Formats: sequence, C-alpha cells, structure tokens
Amino acid sequence: MNKFFSVADIDDLSKVVQDALALKASPYENKALGENRTLGLVFLNPSLRTRMSTQKAAMNLGMNVMVMNMDKDGWALETQDGVVMNGTTVEHIREAAAVMGEYCDILGLRSFPGLKDRETDYNEDLFNKFVKFCGVPVVSLESATRHPLQSLTDLITIAEHKEVDKPKVVLAWAPHVKALPQAVPNSFAEWMCKAQQQGLVDFTIAHPMGYDLCEDFTKGATISDDLSDSLKGADFVYVKNWSSYVEYGQVHPVAQNWMMDNAKLALTNNAKVMHCLPVRRDLELSSEILDGPNSLVIKEASNRVWAAQVVLKRMLENLK
Ligand code: CP
Repeated sequence: MNKFFSVADIDDLSKVVQDALALKASPYENKALGENRTLGLVFLNPSLRTRMSTQKAAMNLGMNVMVMNMDKDGWALETQDGVVMNGTTVEHIREAAAVMGEYCDILGLRSFPGLKDRETDYNEDLFNKFVKFCGVPVVSLESATRHPLQSLTDLITIAEHKEVDKPKVVLAWAPHVKALPQAVPNSFAEWMCKAQQQGLVDFTIAHPMGYDLCEDFTKGATISDDLSDSLKGADFVYVKNWSSYVEYGQVHPVAQNWMMDNAKLALTNNAKVMHCLPVRRDLELSSEILDGPNSLVIKEASNRVWAAQVVLKRMLENLK
C-alpha cells in the first residue's frame, strides 16, 4: 500500500478488519518491521484521537514518530503554483513536502476543507500536491472530503459489536452550532456502501432536507429525511453533523429535533450509538446516551489504534 486516502485503497473489507483485530489481540508482534523507520505526522488542523492513536500504532510497530504542527509551528504554506510569493506565505508546498519526505519513510497529513469553494475542496488539491511532492507513502489523517482512518475504525467497531450477520447501520445527521465538513459522513457512507456491496451491513442515511451528501459517496444507500422511520430496527446509529453540500458550507435551520436521545433510541433494535468525537453533549447527542450502556464512543476511539496500525503495517511491508 502506497497511499491510504479512501475505501478504494482496500479491496477486501472483511480481511482488513480481521487483520486489525489480530493486531489488537497481539499489538507488539511486528515491532521489528518498523525498526529504523520514521513516521512524520503533519497537522494543518487540530486533533486529539488521530494524533495520539496514530503515534501509538507506529510505536507498537517499532517506528520513530515526528509530529509537525504546521498550523502553529511551521512556515505559512503556499499551495498554488505560479504566484509571486510577496504576501504572507513563506514556503511553497513543493519544497516543504519534499523536505519532509527526505526525513520520513511514511507521512500522514491532516488538512480540513475551507468550506468556501466546493470545487477547490472536492478536488483535494492540497492532499494530492502533498502526495506528489513528498515522494513517500502518505496516509490521510483526514482530508477535505474523507477521513478513512475513522471509517476503517468504524467498520472494525461494527464488526466487533454486531449481534446479527448483517446489521442495519444508520448514519443520522445531528444539529451543531458550526459549519462542519462533510469528510466524516462522506467517508463513513463510502465505506458502508462498499460494506453493503460485500454483504456486511444494510445501510441507511437519515438527514433533513438540504443536507444531501455528494452522490459519489452514497451509491446504494437508502436515503431518507424521516429520522424516526429510518431508526426502526437499527442495530447501529452513527450520529454526525455536517454542513450543506448543495449550498456549500451553509448551515440551514432545521425545525425538527434531530438530536439523538433515549426517546429516539427506543425506536431502534436497542442500537449501539457511535460518534467519531469530539461530540457536543446535549446538542448532537444526549448525555443520557453518551453515559449509558448503548454508547460505543470510547471503544470506537480506542479502535483508532488498530485501524492506524493495520494501515501502517501494510505500508511498511511495501517499503523497499
Ligand atoms: N475523530 C477524530 O478524528 O478525532 P480528532 O479530530 O481529535 O483526531
């Protein structure tokens, strides 16, 4: 594996889950694989789980890890070609990425979308330039349109906790006070659509009118604007806010109450409730659920290590 950017980078979902769970059972078996190898984690935006779980995964594999907080500690990056750099940007991505590639065997990059211009964000220009210029394998730590380590974690967590062969999984939009990217729901949708194709889940998306995701990510899903109807028979509910894709980056008022709470949980098949975190308590998801027996959010965050470890292991095995 030379790049981990989307579900297209994984062929057999059952096999990658099986491999991740084997690493969870025996985390330190591959320590020699990463010896004298360096992982560089480059952040243009904040992170708790991605940063710590990916470092832990790399250390379990015997790697050295360097973290670069470009947003706080790095030079202001220029990403466009053909500009005279006589403004605020100090270093071009061509040099910055190439230099980091000299220091590291594998790089990870987190870069959120601007949510201003849909075409720019959905072209993944920054991520693609970073891959092109750094010259080493790159793992996405969340890009403008996807968060694949989170989605792989979610698939692992569903496989671990399912009580039927083909559980009903519902991605449920939730309220928020800020305009959030579509990366997590896009990614969850594309991984669940592929899981549905491979006979692993039955997948539904519930969102208010005006919050349709890009169709490239949702092919094969059942899509509804009726939350109560969608929740019927659900085995897993994945709660997440996102801003509008159609009216890009906008937040429309929603009259109905879409916060997941115990009254809505009662409509499900005693569903396990998931969220990628960070979560806004009693806005997106009720405290009674987060603190109750149906919440998987901490176990889900814990599984971030095994998703990162299985990806890094495959990349290390592919290095010359
Ligand atoms: N879920 C997730 O990616 O968390 P962080 O933003 O804290 O890394």
